[in-house]
Amino acid sequence: MALIHSVVRKPFDFAEQALGKVFPAQWNPLLNLGALGFFFYWIITASGIYVYIFFDTGIHNAYASIEYMTHEQWYMAGVMRSLHRYASDALIVVMLLHLVREFGLERYRGARWFSWVTGIAVLMLIYVSGISGYWLVWDKLAQYVAIVSTEWLDWLPIFGEPVARNFLSPQTLDNRFFTLMIFMHIAVPLIALAVLWIHLQRVSKPRINPPRGLAIGTFVSMLALSLVFPAVSQAPADLAQVPGTVGLDWFYLPLYPLLENWPGTVTWTAAFCMTVIAFAVPFLPPMRKLPVAVVDLENCNGCSRCHYDCPYEAIDMIARTDGRPFEAEPAVDASKCVACGICAGSCPTSMPFRRVTGLSPGIDLPDLTMETLRDQVHDVCDRLTGDNRVLIFSCMHAVPAKSINVPGVASVELRCIGHLPPAFIDYVLSRKLADGVLLAGCSENACHARLGVEWTQARIAGERDPHLRARVPRERVRTVWVGRSGSRLLESELSEFSSGLSAVPGIKVPPAGPATRERDKVDA
Ligand code: HEM
Ligand code: SF4
Ligand code: SF4
Repeated sequence: MALIHSVVRKPFDFAEQALGKVFPAQWNPLLNLGALGFFFYWIITASGIYVYIFFDTGIHNAYASIEYMTHEQWYMAGVMRSLHRYASDALIVVMLLHLVREFGLERYRGARWFSWVTGIAVLMLIYVSGISGYWLVWDKLAQYVAIVSTEWLDWLPIFGEPVARNFLSPQTLDNRFFTLMIFMHIAVPLIALAVLWIHLQRVSKPRINPPRGLAIGTFVSMLALSLVFPAVSQAPADLAQVPGTVGLDWFYLPLYPLLENWPGTVTWTAAFCMTVIAFAVPFLPPMRKLPVAVVDLENCNGCSRCHYDCPYEAIDMIARTDGRPFEAEPAVDASKCVACGICAGSCPTSMPFRRVTGLSPGIDLPDLTMETLRDQVHDVCDRLTGDNRVLIFSCMHAVPAKSINVPGVASVELRCIGHLPPAFIDYVLSRKLADGVLLAGCSENACHARLGVEWTQARIAGERDPHLRARVPRERVRTVWVGRSGSRLLESELSEFSSGLSAVPGIKVPPAGPATRERDKVDA
C-alpha cells in the first residue's frame, strides 16, 4: 500500500514544486483543490441562476431559448452560460485531483474514512447533476445522453414502462419528463451541497475559500475563456432521426461510449463493483490505528488550547469531572482522533524544563509521550559534536530527516511538526544541547494533519499560544516546509543554516540557581 501511495504522490510532489516556482506558496492551485471546488460550485450556482431566468423550461422551446442567450445576448447570458459550462468542467478536474491527492497523502484512512466516503457521495451527485445539465440544452448531444442514459437505466427492472420509449419519436416525448430533469438539475446540486457540509464535519477550520489572488486569477481566466471560446449547442435534437455523430464532453460523459456499446450486464456489474470499491477504499486494508491522545486531568487546567488546535474536531470541552476549581476539561473522541499530537504540542504543560514533577502534560500521545521526546532529544544531542550542532525536529510525513548522515546533525521524529511544543526549541538552545534547531515539516498548505505547519508558524511568530519565547534568537531556528521528496532542498537549507550559526549570538540565559529552578516550575 505504501508503494501505491508513494507512486500516486510523486507526480503531485513534482507538480507542486513546479507550480511553487510560479505561484506564491499560498496560491498554489494544487494546495487549494478543495477550496477551488467550492469556488467553482459558487460560480456554477450564480451563473445557473442567471441562465435560468432566460431558459424556457418546455421541451419544445428550450433549445431556442439557449440559442437566444448564446447569440442574441452573448455579452451577458451567453457569457453566463459559458461560465456555467466551464466552471462545471473545472469542478470535475479539481474534484478528481483532490480525490487522488488525498489518496496519495494517505489522508483517507483510519479516522478520516468519513471525509472519503462523503466525498465519494459528492462525486456521484456532481456527475448526476452535470449529466442532467447536458440534457436540458436539447440538442443532438442531449438527445444522445437521454437515449443512452434511459436505455441503460431500463436494463434494471425498476421502471414499469421502459423510460427510453419517451425518446422514440416526437409524438412519444413527454414534457413532464423534461420538467423532471430540470428539477433534478436543481435539486441534486443542492443535495450535493448538503453532503459537502457533512464532508467537512470532521475537519476543523476547513479552507473553503481560495486565497483572494487565486480566486481573482481563476475567475478572470474563466471569463476570458468564455469570451474567446463561448459554449455553444450542437444541432437541435430531432427524435425522428438517430443522433449520429455527436461531440462528447469528456469531463462528464467519458463513459457514455462504453454504456452505448457494452452489454448492460457488463456495465452494471462494473458500475456496482466500482461503487463498492470506491466506498470501501479507506478500509482496504484497514489501517493500523495508533493509540489516540489521552487526557491527564492532574495536569490540565482546562485552558482549551488543545480543543482549538485539534485539526479534526476530536476534542470537546466538557464540564469538569474531577472537582478541581476549573470550569472545563477536554474529552477526546477516539473515533475522530488521528494521533497527530498537535494537542500535546499546544498544551502549556508540555514543558521540557520541568524536572521536579516529571514531564506529564495535560494531554499526550501514549505511544510517543513528551517525556519520551525529551529523552530522545537528550540521547541524540549527547552524541552531537562540532561547533555548529543542529537538531532537526521532523514530521514523520515530511522528508525523512533520519537519512541525513552529516556530522553535527541529529534528528528527532514527531507525528506532525505541530506536535512540537515551542518550549522544546527554547529548551534545546538554552541548555546548549545544540547550536541551532531546524524544523522540517510538510509543504505549506499540505500538512498531513492539516494545521500543524500553520500553527507552528504562528507559534514561532508569537501569534499563537503556546508561543516561542522572545529570548530565543530566531536566527538559531530555521523552518523548512518540504514534501516527502524534498530531501535536496532540506540538505541545502541545512548546510546554509548550520554554516551561518557561528555568526549568531547565543541565547541569553540567566545563571542557573534557585530562582531559575523556581521559574522553570512556574513555566510548567
Ligand atoms: C466538490 C467536491 C469537493 C469539495 C468542494 C471538497 C472540499 C474539501 C475541503 C474544503 C476539505 C478540507 C481541506 C482542508 O481544509 O484541509 C476537504 C477534505 C477532504 N476531502 Fe474533499 N471535497 C470534495 C470532494 C471530495 C472527494 C470526491 C473526495 C474523495 C473521495 C474527498 C476527500 C476528502 C478527504 C479525505 C478530506 C480530508 C482530508 C484530511 O483529513 O485532511 N473530497 N474536502
Ligand atoms: S492527536 Fe491530533 S487528532 Fe487527536 S486529539 Fe490530538 S490534535 Fe486532535
Ligand atoms: S491544552 Fe492542556 S491544559 Fe489546556 S485544556 Fe488541553 S490538556 Fe488541558
